[in-house]
Amino acid sequence: MQLKNKINASKLPKHVAVIMDGNGRWAKQRGKLRIFGHKNGVKAVRDTVETAAELGIKVLTLYAFSTENWNRPKIEIDMLMSLLVSSLKKELKLFLKNNISLQVIGDLNSLPQKAQNELTEVIEKTKNNSHLILNLALSYSSKDEIVNAFKNISKKIVNNELSIKEIDKNIINNHLYTRNLPNVDLMIRTSGEKRLSNFLLWQIAYAELYFTDVFWPDFNKEEFYKAIIDYQQRERRFGKTSDQLKNDE
Ligand code: FPP
Repeated sequence: MQLKNKINASKLPKHVAVIMDGNGRWAKQRGKLRIFGHKNGVKAVRDTVETAAELGIKVLTLYAFSTENWNRPKIEIDMLMSLLVSSLKKELKLFLKNNISLQVIGDLNSLPQKAQNELTEVIEKTKNNSHLILNLALSYSSKDEIVNAFKNISKKIVNNELSIKEIDKNIINNHLYTRNLPNVDLMIRTSGEKRLSNFLLWQIAYAELYFTDVFWPDFNKEEFYKAIIDYQQRERRFGKTSDQLKNDE
């Protein structure tokens, strides 16, 4: 049986987040520079976006650049930023054809002006699309996101727009970059590393975690299907017992 046929369309994760890791090691294995890995990583991004749209996943969040990635050599950062700009220009057609809207989370002001302009343009042109939200995490840090939420909530308290009593999970959710998105159901990390690397720490409270040894440039449709099938075999108990879940059905 083909992998795709093993997927239960009624049990899809709504929100899938991906830590795309291993571009550098993939290139090194081939005796190439790291940027060669990133370029091939873009192909895997396209495949993954297409597959998410084809399956009917609602939100796909990709960790494209962390705040910690600013510590990489300048030449690699410059190349990643220009890859981002050229990919956005190229993929706009795919977004329009597949009814995909682009969103971004992170400290966008720290990105080069060119990248900011391109992102703003693609976000604007795709804002009415509704089949899939492609959410790119750029210059993203989960801890910074939470600090930012604390600051904005505190400001509202000082201005008497909010009381301490009113603070609950929803209020905090509503002050995160991901305020309009559902919680993450499935988090995928490639390349064999088993870390969360400061990614969506609040939003993954009940996510299923899937780690694969495949380097990001080799991640494709079939690998994505495998992750979804694995996810669908998990029992998501959210703190309840197995028996309770059966009675809930
Ligand atoms: C991790 O591999 C990858 C990144 C830090 C960047 C991800 C970027 C892309 C997939 C390409 C550009 C993305 C878009 C959205 C256009 P690594 O460099 O950490 O690999 P390593 O751990 O093997 O060194």
